[in-house]
Amino acid sequence: MQNDLFLRALRRQPVERTPVWLMRQAGRYLPEYNATRKKAGNFLALCKTPELACEVTLQPIDRYGFDAAILFSDILTIPDALGLGLHFVEGEGPRFHKKIESEADVLALPTVEVQESLGYVADAVALIRRELDGRVPLIGFSGSPWTLACYMISGGSSGDDFLSVRKWLYSRPDLVRAVLDRLTSLVVDYCDMQIRSGAQAIMLFDSWGGLLADAHFDGFSRQSLAAIVQALRDRHPDIPTIVFVKGGGQWLESIAQTGCDAVGCDWTVNLAQARSRVGDQVALQGNLDPAVLLGSADQVRAEARRVVESFGRLGRGAGHVFNLGHGISQFTPLDNVTALVEAVAQASRQQVL
Ligand code: CP3
Repeated sequence: MQNDLFLRALRRQPVERTPVWLMRQAGRYLPEYNATRKKAGNFLALCKTPELACEVTLQPIDRYGFDAAILFSDILTIPDALGLGLHFVEGEGPRFHKKIESEADVLALPTVEVQESLGYVADAVALIRRELDGRVPLIGFSGSPWTLACYMISGGSSGDDFLSVRKWLYSRPDLVRAVLDRLTSLVVDYCDMQIRSGAQAIMLFDSWGGLLADAHFDGFSRQSLAAIVQALRDRHPDIPTIVFVKGGGQWLESIAQTGCDAVGCDWTVNLAQARSRVGDQVALQGNLDPAVLLGSADQVRAEARRVVESFGRLGRGAGHVFNLGHGISQFTPLDNVTALVEAVAQASRQQVL
């Protein structure tokens, strides 16, 4: 491995500077991504064609020299494999032809053999590893059971914070739990397949964990995250895991206790406080507000430095992976990303003890 800064930071080993990658780093802000997407016809075809998924995964690495690549795919490949019929409506986000509306729908969910239904993801991972040729590590990922359940029960993106799903939490908690249990074992198999194909770290996206009531977070999200982390640790003890709960700042300690190696933080979190709360249990990943990248390059540099400095000195066991607090906006000017990467390198070199 030519650049293993990212893996060292996740393991809280010494680094010369803070590694950086960005959530959704392969996406519509890149002209080369838009060109490949056009060639594919649509987003899902891009995900399902390993050669094209590989091409777009490498684009941000080639352009910016990020310290990690992330598999180009989507969290909704799992509900798609469960037969819900994923499609994207322009300007509205993901939709399913079928949604989970009753006990009968839950019982009717088919058994999924990941290698059979999601083999295209394994093929993409293997191809990307080959094309990366040891330049930087490759991150595999999955949605969390709770976040996947949100999309499956509501039938797609939601304009009302998944109110229909949250209603079920009170009226049919048994059904929500049944969906979560099905998804938990599927996510384990899916991540396991990605690791066996070459993924060198796994990130779990709980994008909607922050919608849960405090009394519900543990039972409806954290427990399934912990079960996945533990199962992956048993099967692949050397593969680090990152758990990102958007809006989960109030639960950092309990997220760290899932046994993950790193906790993702959105931009509402103060990294210095986060560090003192989780101690040296885990590394932290985050947490620049993606909106900063829509401003001037000078502002980008100043805010990047602020995030690096808020994490503090990079002593032994510090463990910071610089990222945004959520996905990069499609309206981000290309040069601002260059300014960001340079500023993180410069500011973090000054934080090395
Ligand atoms: O980070 C990366 O570069 C890897 C690729 C990646 C995508 N989606 C590509 C994508 C990853 C890791 C995801 C995860 C994902 N997908 C999440 C969790 C992270 C988060 O953002 O909270 C969620 C909730 C989804 C579901 C999803 N997929 C939505 C809501 C949308 C529409 C959003 C939009 O911006 O239109 C997608 C589509 C999607 N996934 C795009 C990309 C690059 C845009 C699709 C396009 O090219 O039209």
